[in-house]
Amino acid sequence: MVQLAGKPISYWIDSTPTNNFPTLVRETFEGVSVDVAIVGAGIAGITAAYQLKQAGKTVAVLEADQISVGTSGHTTAKVTSLHQLIYADLIKQIGEAKARLYAESNQAAVEWVASLVENEQIDCDFSRQSTFTFAESEATLSEVKDEVEAAVTLGLPASFVTETTLPFPIVGAVKFDNQAQFHSRKYLLHLAKTIDGDGSYVFEKTRVQQVEEGDPCQVITDQGVVSAKDVLVTTNAPILDQGLFFAKTYAKRSYIIGARISPDRAPQGMFIGTGQNYRSIRTTPFNGDLLLLIGGEGHKVGSTSDTEEKYQKLEDYARSRFGVETIDYRWSTQDLVSFDRLPFIGKLTPFNQHVYVATGFSLWGMSNGTLSGLLLADTILGQENRWAELYDATRATPFVKPQSLKENIDVGVHWIGDRLKGLRHQSFDDVAVGDGKLVTIKGKQIAAYRDETGTLHAVSATCTHLGCIVNWNSAEKSWDCPCHGGRFDCDGKVLHGPPIKDLEPYS
Ligand SMILES: Cc1cc2nc3c(=O)[nH]c(=O)nc-3n(C[C@H](O)[C@H](O)[C@H](O)COP(=O)(O)OP(=O)(O)OC[C@H]3O[C@@H](n4cnc5c(N)ncnc54)[C@H](O)[C@@H]3O)c2cc1C
Ligand code: FES
Repeated sequence: MVQLAGKPISYWIDSTPTNNFPTLVRETFEGVSVDVAIVGAGIAGITAAYQLKQAGKTVAVLEADQISVGTSGHTTAKVTSLHQLIYADLIKQIGEAKARLYAESNQAAVEWVASLVENEQIDCDFSRQSTFTFAESEATLSEVKDEVEAAVTLGLPASFVTETTLPFPIVGAVKFDNQAQFHSRKYLLHLAKTIDGDGSYVFEKTRVQQVEEGDPCQVITDQGVVSAKDVLVTTNAPILDQGLFFAKTYAKRSYIIGARISPDRAPQGMFIGTGQNYRSIRTTPFNGDLLLLIGGEGHKVGSTSDTEEKYQKLEDYARSRFGVETIDYRWSTQDLVSFDRLPFIGKLTPFNQHVYVATGFSLWGMSNGTLSGLLLADTILGQENRWAELYDATRATPFVKPQSLKENIDVGVHWIGDRLKGLRHQSFDDVAVGDGKLVTIKGKQIAAYRDETGTLHAVSATCTHLGCIVNWNSAEKSWDCPCHGGRFDCDGKVLHGPPIKDLEPYS
């Protein structure tokens, strides 16, 4: 078994309090009725709830776990409209006018966050930073140059540079001025505290199981029912299947390490590379020093078991490129990548009148999630929003694009193939201490993990979403579904949607 360096928890979560809000308890809160129920307390849900509360609506935020411990608590938290390389491609795919709306809405989200932090004096390590997408070789230099040209055309604060404060040479970079970074969880906890009270609620440890549209809508949780005129589903991966978002996106998991670095050796700004094996780099204040965050090694969820290797590669990079001495943190998380690169924000389906969704932020949800919250709030408040059409969640989606075709064919291959081939192991004896294996016993497909004490944890290997077979994730000790990114802990408890039901225990 590999011993990985660093505390296995997100720095954002480790440095903030847990258990900030109550659970919805049937007896105490029976009959909760609000204007808007918001399912999921990440950046999209909390931003929407904040805006709606400010506008005089009553809201109930229902969070399965705790505020901002999902993707928003595991992000790198760069708040920027520079999304690696996107604008040249968007102009080509959807035209300049629509690409301009994407640019404008993301830049507006950056400025909205900045103003809010200033006006509310939010203590969240916010700072203005330049942000860079860099090329280390000629192979991606032309893409970088095209991106600068596209971004300038769209009115973004872009320029081309050949030097940065990174401790290694680059051949060129897109630079955006006056972008920002923050501590995502401090920011979201502050907003959540302003939401609770005066007829509005924030509930933690309250998992929503179903939403029934009606007048009012019924939001059914594992603790009781909440009535609401409108419902926003902001669960990252939508828990309701009607919009088929699982077929319009794929779930990408990526890794981050945090290493202490002294300010005089740290790079200034926020960085992301280009090409297949790019790295994402920034720093954040850390006990009088800085914590250098390095992210990368992304892959489709459930497509590999050896995830320990991912952390090791990031560690090697941190040590060789930045000379860091310790690795203090490591964590990983995932986001849905939209096939047309645009988030889905708005009505769940053309037939819904009161149920809305926001998803598909493609690893840029600090700005995309913020603008989702603003857009959904405008929609509920009946205010016109010029970005609504671009992000319309019911828009015709490119099922026939090569990438979406490939991903959806992959799902079919997993669904059928995993059943036909059977699982390789026939005995729990094959499951070593610290390891997870798929085992077939009397025709049952079982996901089995043996913990450090030798105790076996055995659950059904069939994902409760649409029935694919889960795959072992060695670093996180979880069962990950290769079809739509659902994840379960080693006892089968749901960690990440779209599934809402736990894996069945094996008996
Ligand atoms: C490695 C990585 C690095 C990233 N770095 C950046 C970055 O630097 N800048 C940037 O802009 N973006 C970044 N992103 C993307 C960004 O972090 C995400 O897009 C964003 O956090 C998603 O927010 P969300 O509100 O959709 O989801 P989440 O934050 O996951 O919130 C959804 C919430 O819904 C809850 N939930 C789920 N199911 C239920 C249920 N049934 N009932 C109740 N609640 C439920 C979950 O517990 C969760 O808290 C990164 C993504 C990754 C993967
Ligand atoms: S997440 Fe869809 S089948 Fe597992």
